[in-house]
Amino acid sequence: MSIKTPVGQGLSASSRTHGTQGFAGKILRLVSLIATNPVEAWDRIATKMEVRADKVHQTGPGIYFPGESEAALADLEVHLHAGVRSHLAETQLRDIEDEVVRRIEGGLTAAPFTLAHCSGRLLARTCYAIVRALRPNVVLETGVAYGVTSTFILKALETNGQGLLHSVDLPPLGRDANRFVGALVPQSLRRRWHLHRGSTRRVLPKLLPSLGSVGLFVHDSLHTYRTMEYEFAAVTPRLAPGSMLIADDIQDNAAFRNWVDRSKPVFAAAIREPDKQSLFGITYFA
Ligand SMILES: C[S@@+](CC[C@H](N)C(=O)[O-])C[C@H]1O[C@@H](n2cnc3c(N)ncnc32)[C@H](O)[C@@H]1O
Repeated sequence: MSIKTPVGQGLSASSRTHGTQGFAGKILRLVSLIATNPVEAWDRIATKMEVRADKVHQTGPGIYFPGESEAALADLEVHLHAGVRSHLAETQLRDIEDEVVRRIEGGLTAAPFTLAHCSGRLLARTCYAIVRALRPNVVLETGVAYGVTSTFILKALETNGQGLLHSVDLPPLGRDANRFVGALVPQSLRRRWHLHRGSTRRVLPKLLPSLGSVGLFVHDSLHTYRTMEYEFAAVTPRLAPGSMLIADDIQDNAAFRNWVDRSKPVFAAAIREPDKQSLFGITYFA
């Protein structure tokens, strides 16, 4: 049987089974973490409680009218006064897509957490094209897992010949999970990459002041209302004119919608991710 990989290629069922190490294993790891790293253990417990609370105190789904990505990017180009879609045809993008597929098939056979964490192909490609068009000096993303979006963003920065990516991730609780965070990112792209380990709520207050202004923010960590609202509120004052914010999985709550209403970017669109049947949002501040 074949499933869709994050970059839209067939992947055999054998590579789909790893990553599920069982509830008991996770509890054991959490208990040992309480002894070795109580701060992180607390962050993980708080995250679980937040996910549960999000289900109980439903804020209602976000109401979106998703458009075709082609039309949304065409609209974005009008505001940016720059081409975005042309970057989707670049050989550098094709090369990195091929490399990510090769790495998934060849290198993640003993991976400790599920490939379902990986972002979809359209989001990854859109991140690449937007970084190429915007040419940001600083990109900040939350949520790395195996590093699909990180890889595409880094490839675009490398092609631009400028810019750094700061990524924040609290890895899933799996055996050897640390080693696999960003495992898809090729060595050749890592010189522009800073990976910060921990929950966004703990890392961002210290990290953000050190970054100056952020040219592109990509949210793909915990998709609860509370964390999305927190990250958007923390990053917004750092978004310079001409910057963008992208958020994955906006469909389950109204955090993105409410933030757009408050922050009033000149451009906002919701795009359907065909691989995952989810929505991601893109916004632009002139
Ligand atoms: C959807 S995955 C990220 C996918 C990634 N962007 C990609 O392109 O494949 C979400 C990641 O965020 C991490 N995460 C969950 N809660 C977090 C939090 N509060 N702070 C930081 N990272 C978190 C998860 O462990 C996981 O690694």
